[in-house]
Amino acid sequence: MAILRAGSCLLIFYLILNVHGKSGSSEKRTFVIDYDNDTFSMDGKPFRYISGSIHYSRVPYQYWDDRLHKMAAAGLNAIQTYIPWNIHEPEEGKIDFSGQQDVVTFLETAQKYNLSVILRSGPYICGEWEFGGLPAWLLKSDNLKVRTMDPNYIKPVGRWLTRLYAELKPMLYKNGGPIITVQIENEYGSYEACDYDYLRFLRDLARECLGNDTVLFTTDGDSDGFLKCGTLPDVYATIDFGVTYTPEKNFEIQRHKEPKGPLVNSEFYTGWLDHWGENHSTIATSEVAKSLDLILALGANINMYMFEGGTNFGFWNGANYPYQPVPTSYDYDAPLSEAGDITEKYMTLRSVITKYNPTAMAVPPSTPKKAYGKVIMTFASTLYDMANLKDPVMSTYPLTMEQLDSYYGFVIYKHIFKSQVSGPLDLSGVRDRAYVNVIRDKKVVLSAVVERDTSNMTVSVDVDAGDFVLVLVENQGRINYGGEMNYNHKGLISNVTLNNITLTDWEQSAFGWDPSQRMLIPSNSFLVPVAKAPSLPSFYAGVLDVEEPQDTYLDMSLWTKGQLFINGMNMGRYWPHRGPQVRLYIPKYALNAGSNLILMLELEQAPCHHSNSKCYVEFMDQPLINATVPQSIHRGISQDTKPLWRWLFDLIMSIIFSEWNLFSF
Ligand SMILES: *[C@@H]1O[C@H](CO)[C@@H](O)[C@H](O)[C@H]1NC(C)=O
Ligand SMILES: *[C@@H]1O[C@H](CO)[C@@H](O)[C@H](O)[C@H]1NC(C)=O
Ligand SMILES: *[C@@H]1O[C@H](CO)[C@@H](O)[C@H](O)[C@H]1NC(C)=O
Ligand SMILES: *[C@@H]1O[C@H](CO)[C@@H](O)[C@H](O)[C@H]1NC(C)=O
Ligand SMILES: *[C@@H]1O[C@H](CO)[C@@H](O)[C@H](O)[C@H]1NC(C)=O
Ligand SMILES: *[C@@H]1O[C@H](CO)[C@@H](O)[C@H](O)[C@H]1NC(C)=O
Ligand SMILES: *[C@@H]1O[C@H](CO)[C@@H](O)[C@H](O)[C@H]1NC(C)=O
Ligand SMILES: *[C@@H]1O[C@H](CO)[C@@H](O)[C@H](O)[C@H]1NC(C)=O
Repeated sequence: MAILRAGSCLLIFYLILNVHGKSGSSEKRTFVIDYDNDTFSMDGKPFRYISGSIHYSRVPYQYWDDRLHKMAAAGLNAIQTYIPWNIHEPEEGKIDFSGQQDVVTFLETAQKYNLSVILRSGPYICGEWEFGGLPAWLLKSDNLKVRTMDPNYIKPVGRWLTRLYAELKPMLYKNGGPIITVQIENEYGSYEACDYDYLRFLRDLARECLGNDTVLFTTDGDSDGFLKCGTLPDVYATIDFGVTYTPEKNFEIQRHKEPKGPLVNSEFYTGWLDHWGENHSTIATSEVAKSLDLILALGANINMYMFEGGTNFGFWNGANYPYQPVPTSYDYDAPLSEAGDITEKYMTLRSVITKYNPTAMAVPPSTPKKAYGKVIMTFASTLYDMANLKDPVMSTYPLTMEQLDSYYGFVIYKHIFKSQVSGPLDLSGVRDRAYVNVIRDKKVVLSAVVERDTSNMTVSVDVDAGDFVLVLVENQGRINYGGEMNYNHKGLISNVTLNNITLTDWEQSAFGWDPSQRMLIPSNSFLVPVAKAPSLPSFYAGVLDVEEPQDTYLDMSLWTKGQLFINGMNMGRYWPHRGPQVRLYIPKYALNAGSNLILMLELEQAPCHHSNSKCYVEFMDQPLINATVPQSIHRGISQDTKPLWRWLFDLIMSIIFSEWNLFSF
């Protein structure tokens, strides 16, 4: 493929170099693989890394220093990070390396703590991150085949990586920076495509842009099957595996590909990921510590995934398939908590690590947490009454988010029925969850929730001419793993039928998407206002007065499902009704000294739409991400997820509310 020429890399590199001014050190800095001695070699001396994963996109940038300091104080001499392409190129061609996206500052901070950096540049990163790090605008191409030589994929990949490598080249070890190794793709052997041309393209691009003396590596699961399609003969093959008491056996798999050279476990799991509707995952500290000790005793290199998990703020969480979105917290049961706190696991692993890499650095304290208490939340408006930002788009058939150029958040679809009709309204094209309301004479006559990949994605309706249906579709996060990644379109992805007849003439307005992850409010110009109907998706507002901002956790346990904004910042999704996460981490940088606006878009049911008695949220000083999830709540079964008390509660509420409804319009 003659898509990229070396010239483009070099030109950008020199422009960037002048800005950062990183080169010019007189001593020769080298980082290579010493095959004779089965080790990495830094400046001619054997080097073994003890590393931990931290994703800069999951930690508020003001806290990067704090977290990296604590990682160094654990005895680590390296960190590993992914580069999520989609945070840097939210719109095609608009590249952002500022603020939360300022990866160079993140790397410089690592270097300040003498932490080397293992760079996982993608473009695919998995990581339980939205679309595995790929920008959703790629999906505008028909029949996209991600992670292959498909030109619709590879051209933007080439442009992006050329730009990224130019930005990061001054940060390579040989150029005075902390980056010692660069990963090509990510666990590619687990992907069905097995396109070696694609791996070679990525290898050649990295060499062209970073120099052929940069240590490149791949990472795959520890079986020969994974290594088959994930590796190239001249890119160093590493493996990943979790707790084991016989690590020498696991490393035998790596030796099948790399008979000489350093042993490397690129992802040693300190904990595990969560999904909404499953119990919180943990791995016992004693097991992790014992296994870590055995791996280090072999002289192997290790990266602990995660060392600091962090948070999926905004709409950045990914999902697995069959469809299981991951929660807002990415705590991962890691040694540093979601909020960067020192845990028992941290202290135990530190005592293991320092046997091999003695460090004098004292452990910094955890940040203070504050329980600000209850904040009364007041019904502000239904979603459909909010003021305009975007005009609705008219079309014969419903458009997807990608067709609407709005990639994250929500789309409102509206269809006006042309005649009296009753029967099943088929919404099987919903991706991923829809809040359905039928409106007649400004009254809500039907409310239903439809969830993707469930057995019943129809709603029974009985409508008159002039009634209309509002279908609010929530994108719950794109799949980040496996072949389903190519089918990640959101919104309504197929026609809606009523009695098998396709409904035509739709209006739609997308909202929620904005590169800074702030909330955009949709237009109401196409909607008949339905005032004071909190059974519709609605905004609730409250004010928190703060003297001195501190980290805190917002308890959402009385609410059902929605999105939380603090001072306009999108803090993530809440869904205590499904669990296991009940409280959201609020870093102090989201708060101001003075008044703070708490805004919630409650999609299903507020605790208080009939009175103010329970209409509050509570700021607490402890996290809660491990509520017990009942067995009945798991993927594939969504209609029957309510416990009995909740059915009764809802029934009573619906009776009270239906009367209230009549008086209110
Ligand atoms: C590496 O191995 C070679 C050959 O066994 C040996 O001569 C050399 O001293 C070793 N280098 C280091 C840094 O240990
Ligand atoms: C920084 O790390 C390198 C490699 O791990 C080590 O040789 C060096 O002594 C460290 N320097 C400081 C100041 O800790
Ligand atoms: C590596 O790059 C250098 C300079 O860019 C070049 O002289 C050398 O031939 C290259 N080596 C290989 C093996 O491609
Ligand atoms: C499920 O199916 C029944 C019967 O067809 C229907 O009444 C109901 O509205 C459907 N939808 C949901 C989301 O429960
Ligand atoms: C919707 O139906 C029309 C008419 O049959 C068809 O042309 C169109 O492709 C359908 N859209 C989707 C997304 O299936
Ligand atoms: C709708 O179409 C399906 C097959 O496409 C058929 O099984 C079903 O009987 C039809 N329903 C109605 C109400 O016509
Ligand atoms: C949740 O985590 C807390 C703190 O680690 C622990 O005390 C509690 O037992 C856990 N609860 C469940 C249900 O696992
Ligand atoms: C979660 O854990 C509880 C207590 O161990 C158990 O009863 C429940 O079935 C589990 N839920 C799921 C979804 O596995």
